[in-house]
Amino acid sequence: MEPLDPDKLPKHLAIIMDGNGRWAQQRMLKRIVGHQRGAETVKMVVEQASLMGIRYLTLFAFSSENWLRPAIEVRALMTLLKKYIRNETARMMRNNIRYNVIGNRSDLPDDVNQTLEEAIHETANNTGMVLTLALSYGGRQELSMAAARLTRDVMVGKLSPDDITIDIFGSYLDTGGLPDPDFLIRTSGEMRISNFLLWQLAYTELYFTDINWPDFTINEFHKALSDFQSRERRFGKTSDQLNKGD
Ligand code: IPE
Ligand code: IPE
Ligand code: MG
Repeated sequence: MEPLDPDKLPKHLAIIMDGNGRWAQQRMLKRIVGHQRGAETVKMVVEQASLMGIRYLTLFAFSSENWLRPAIEVRALMTLLKKYIRNETARMMRNNIRYNVIGNRSDLPDDVNQTLEEAIHETANNTGMVLTLALSYGGRQELSMAAARLTRDVMVGKLSPDDITIDIFGSYLDTGGLPDPDFLIRTSGEMRISNFLLWQLAYTELYFTDINWPDFTINEFHKALSDFQSRERRFGKTSDQLNKGD
């Protein structure tokens, strides 16, 4: 496999980790076993991304819409999440990784919130990769909440409607302070965004693979990043302009 160019890695990588349920069902296993195996892939990707020097990694772990799943699966996912955070915090410290969460924290069970709070607090001074977990996250929900907060600031005179630029609007989102993702990977063959980072993905390079998340290996990860490195990001300009460095 071709070596990756360390200077051309995405600064911010976002991943829609999909296909845990199908992975399990294809093996006559319970869906939760797929989620457990998926958690192993998370460990690998987090460790690899941080070793490579990726600055920001954002993982879609639970969507606003995932609350509609059977209660037993939701409960199992919350338990798994709590265990994962508890077991991994020491490794996050060793790897200098800082936890961050986006999404509607208040929807999460109290014990999960408390575990998250502790992990965020403990890793707050780490200066390496920022690992953002999207939990109870939906892009439309985030945008409408941002609009509500912004409106409130206009009403109290903190902000004038004329001040609302793309950057100002972006700062009202949960991801305020994070750069937009350069690269998005979605596993399991679904070619949709599923309400993830709607605003932030405006110019992100998209990558879809048929591999289910528990089967996503270091090799597959490498392959995806290598694909990213072959792309020309034009941001509206022509190829000639980019080659001339304008
Ligand atoms: C992704 O796997 C994990 C979550 C959405 C929490 P799925 O559970 O969506 O797996 P499939 O899509 O049913 O195979
Ligand atoms: C998206 O996966 C959410 C996460 C990966 C957490 P889903 O499996 O929920 O997406 P849809 O509903 O099939 O689009
Ligand atoms: Mg799915």
